[in-house]
Amino acid sequence: MSAMRGNNGPRYKHSADESAPYDTITVDKLTPIVGAEIGGVDLSQPLGNRTFEEIHRALAENLVIFFRDQHITEQQHLDFGRSFGKLHIHPAAPHAPGHPELMIIHADKDSPRANGEGWHSDVSCDVEPPMGSILYIRKCPPRGGDTLFASMYAAYEALSDRMKRYLDGMTAVHDGEDVYRGTYANFGVEDKKAYPRAEHPVVRTHPVTGKQALYVNRGFTKRLLGVPRDESAAVLAYLYDHAESPLFQCRFRWQENSIAFWDNRCVQHRAMWDYWPHTRTGNRVTIQGDRPV
Ligand code: SIN
Repeated sequence: MSAMRGNNGPRYKHSADESAPYDTITVDKLTPIVGAEIGGVDLSQPLGNRTFEEIHRALAENLVIFFRDQHITEQQHLDFGRSFGKLHIHPAAPHAPGHPELMIIHADKDSPRANGEGWHSDVSCDVEPPMGSILYIRKCPPRGGDTLFASMYAAYEALSDRMKRYLDGMTAVHDGEDVYRGTYANFGVEDKKAYPRAEHPVVRTHPVTGKQALYVNRGFTKRLLGVPRDESAAVLAYLYDHAESPLFQCRFRWQENSIAFWDNRCVQHRAMWDYWPHTRTGNRVTIQGDRPV
């Protein structure tokens, strides 16, 4: 039985932003709450202003967008990312030769781990965490390797009013140390002396949509500030369970040459490593973001 079950209709009543029609792209929603597949775009060709604006709008309305059957070079991947802002360099992960902004995402039968196996928002331990991430998967297992995405707007909205008041003005520590130390040794990456650590509001306001989103995640968030440690642990455990409810999620089934573009300010994601001993490989371009407020 779902912990979200009640007797007054669904716990979270999603009011869809009734979107104006799109002129240059198609937008096919995966769920009413999060995720949409975009059609009518070839990312290997220059994007007109109108198409670019519509992709941006589709991201704001759907939080994560997907493109199928794209054949882009490393440079085109980087250029697409740069059209949304300056690129972020990952503090630990390996990158393509000569391109520090092109992170390698790879797991095969010999890998000790795969990227993103727990729920997280990318590099939320940075003082200015990434705005968005664009993952291009070139090689896929025959089945499996899906990525799950969850709306943190919906997670926030579905909290009780009392919990919203409790979290109002609260901050949390996010730390990359445990996540990154030793993690990429199998790629020959040497550890840094220190990894990023930052304090962020538990509820952040999205700079484009003005909506509030829950901003704690199991991957990076260490503790809530201003309350005893046992209280912090109990409240965070509740918030993680709540945020990971399937009600707020979509699940993307990859095919080779697909792209996912997600907004780290309002979604969390996790990747499934259920395809061993097969190989899944691609690159991620990550766009710099602002300090959460
Ligand atoms: C990540 O960027 O966290 C990895 C996501 C994935 O491989 O699907």
